[in-house]
Amino acid sequence: MGELLRVTGLTKVFKLHLLGGREVVACRDIEFVLRPGEILGIQGPSGAGKSTILKCLYRTCLATAGQAWHRSPDGSVDLLQAPAQTILALRRSEIGYVSQFLRVVPRVSALQVVAEGFLCKGWRESRAPQEAARLLEHLKIPADLWEASPCTFSGGEQQRVNVARASAGWPRLLLMDEPTASLDQESKRTVQELILELKRRGTSIVVVSHDRHTFNQITDRVLHLNRGAEVRAGRGREYAKAAADH
Ligand SMILES: Nc1ncnc2c1ncn2[C@@H]1O[C@H](COP(=O)(O)OP(=O)(O)OP(=O)(O)O)[C@@H](O)[C@H]1O
Ligand SMILES: [Mg+2]
Repeated sequence: MGELLRVTGLTKVFKLHLLGGREVVACRDIEFVLRPGEILGIQGPSGAGKSTILKCLYRTCLATAGQAWHRSPDGSVDLLQAPAQTILALRRSEIGYVSQFLRVVPRVSALQVVAEGFLCKGWRESRAPQEAARLLEHLKIPADLWEASPCTFSGGEQQRVNVARASAGWPRLLLMDEPTASLDQESKRTVQELILELKRRGTSIVVVSHDRHTFNQITDRVLHLNRGAEVRAGRGREYAKAAADH
């Protein structure tokens, strides 16, 4: 089946200059392989380095060491080392990211925010708003909000717009940081369904979550972290069962 992403030795050490250069190891020697259409879960206690791993892959954070080879149609790219321009192009064309905390652009409507994601991935201007509307509808964002800026939305609505924007155009790789946190049960289900639709369309996903139920429903494998170190990898369902047995 091949692989889409191969991560080896991913390490991030933060230097706290205000504390006399003290070092914090956020994650150490992380290794995993992600195949096309596969969903890898990352789980672990708060502060274990889950968000840091996703940020290093999306390059909003510079890794201290390691490699992350992403197989793009134009060739393989090391996401940890590639020039910033290459990363920006990949973000537009094939890598999506759902941040743990949403940053929204003021004065841009929810529909535009999501349609932009389709346009960047080469969808026709006549199709993009239609597809964006379909995503917003699926995520149960009320239609009378679509023309408004997500700045004024509730936390859960913002989070769903965030998920819609990152999913727009069906990216090849999607990094999701707590996509179902702060959602009610029904919204969680709609996000889970969207994640499974992404998988069916071939998107490979790395998802961080504290929500064991979400993991049980969607992941193929789980990487379990303990304060920066990888301690165990297993199949999602097996992991959820083992965790439930404790
Ligand atoms: N910009 C930063 N500067 C210094 N230390 C940081 C920075 N970002 C993260 N850290 C530290 O790195 C460690 C891992 O943080 P990270 O946000 O990756 O954890 P997490 O597993 O996502 O936690 P949570 O479940 O609470 O979201 C923490 O100890 C954190 O304090
Ligand atoms: Mg986090």
